[in-house]
Amino acid sequence: MPAALHNGHVKVSFRSCALLAAALAFFAAGCKSGPPPSKPLSQLTPTEQSGRAVFQTHCAACHYPTSTEPLHGPGLQALFKRPYLPSGAPANDDRVSSVILHGRNMMPPMGNQLDDQQMQDLLAYLHTL
Ligand code: HEC
Repeated sequence: MPAALHNGHVKVSFRSCALLAAALAFFAAGCKSGPPPSKPLSQLTPTEQSGRAVFQTHCAACHYPTSTEPLHGPGLQALFKRPYLPSGAPANDDRVSSVILHGRNMMPPMGNQLDDQQMQDLLAYLHTL
């Protein structure tokens, strides 16, 4: 089902895409409804940079950090800037740590692979998205 939807999008002509993008930009600017931007990489603190390295190693294969589009799991841009996670659970450190440690459906548990420091750095980085 999502695959069929996706194909539908791909077939939309460039012209209507451009129009749609322009319209979306207009509305986003008008009512500020788009997700807030991520912190620029050049401004990450050392802790956040370590967290980014953890993300690249353990999460990037399944999650985009710069988009809300799904890869294998949902895109994580603006993860903590929205009130709810994709599952509908509240977007807070407790809930996100629990998903990372214990997994969720197709997402594998990573409690054995990350020590406390890596977990804290990772959360700090996720807050910048
Ligand atoms: C093998 C692929 C895979 C890897 C690796 C992976 N995830 Fe996921 N992740 C998923 C999938 C699939 C879901 C959707 C689970 C569901 O709700 O059914 C998900 C969901 C999530 C969610 C949303 C949970 C919710 O309640 O909606 C967060 C946050 C998340 N992952 C963070 C991470 C982080 C951080 C890492 C790295 C430590 C990571 N994931 C590694 C596949 C992965």
